[in-house]
Amino acid sequence: MTDLVRLEVADGVGTIRIDRPPMNALNAEIQHGLVDACREAGERKDVAAVVVWGGEKVFAAGADIKEMETMSYTDMVDHSALLQDFTRALARLPKPTVAAITGYALGGGCEVALACDFRVAADDARLGQPEILLGIIPGAGGTQRLARLVGPSRAKDIVFSGRFVGAEEALAIGLVDRVVPAAEVYDTARTMMARYAGGPAYALRAAKEAIDRGLEVDLDSGLEIERMLFAGLFATRDRATGMRSFVEKGPGKATFEGA
Ligand code: CAA
Repeated sequence: MTDLVRLEVADGVGTIRIDRPPMNALNAEIQHGLVDACREAGERKDVAAVVVWGGEKVFAAGADIKEMETMSYTDMVDHSALLQDFTRALARLPKPTVAAITGYALGGGCEVALACDFRVAADDARLGQPEILLGIIPGAGGTQRLARLVGPSRAKDIVFSGRFVGAEEALAIGLVDRVVPAAEVYDTARTMMARYAGGPAYALRAAKEAIDRGLEVDLDSGLEIERMLFAGLFATRDRATGMRSFVEKGPGKATFEGA
């Protein structure tokens, strides 16, 4: 794993820290590092949920433009798969995830945030997909995930114009879920994820998969995905524990083992 992306684990919450000052520009090393960090966070039993964090100043100002500047079409045919791999690795991480956004979340940085389950932003944060100003379009999932999150018209406005979206507008259109003072972003995101530590890991995983996979298919297929995942949870110890606990002690008292 690269030093530019670290997985730090405390009290059941993993933090994937992107650390490449001044702007956390996402070069190929970081993109590979994100894939590795997501795999490790997904596999580790001591990680129940994940915060993605770029530090106090900036989330990420996008893919590294200086690295891409000299790339040819054939270079990018190969590299573009990696651009989608690192956001897919995050989107498919089988645990709850939140982006803790300070400063800028632009281009690939915004796309990293879009691949998380939730987004907490600083009140002075600015998000956007400014690729159009470089003569390109978002390439790490932005055209797809942004449109699914905020609707096609708003996504087109943001992608066609390349303009920056302030935190309050981002909250109003559903691009972020919470806005807090900059100094509170990381702690707020951690608190959101800490509630999943000690939770029924397989049920959380199934819930995420049912919602995300279901949104990619027609309703009948989505309902079938839900049915199979729902039935599958009856093979877990947490299901037995959860129901026995309800019958014996009432709601919300179960202690899960994540198995
Ligand atoms: N790639 C490479 N370097 C970047 C960068 C990026 N995405 N963003 C910022 N930097 C560098 C700057 O070149 C500058 O480097 P030097 O000190 O060597 O000159 C340094 O970071 C600081 O940046 P600024 O001086 O520009 O700082 P600022 O505060 O004036 O502006 C900013 C900050 C608004 C984020 C501005 O830097 C900016 O607009 N960055 C580019 C944003 C962008 O276009 N992102 C999309 C990238 S393409 C992409 O992401 C494709 C995809 O879908 C995967």
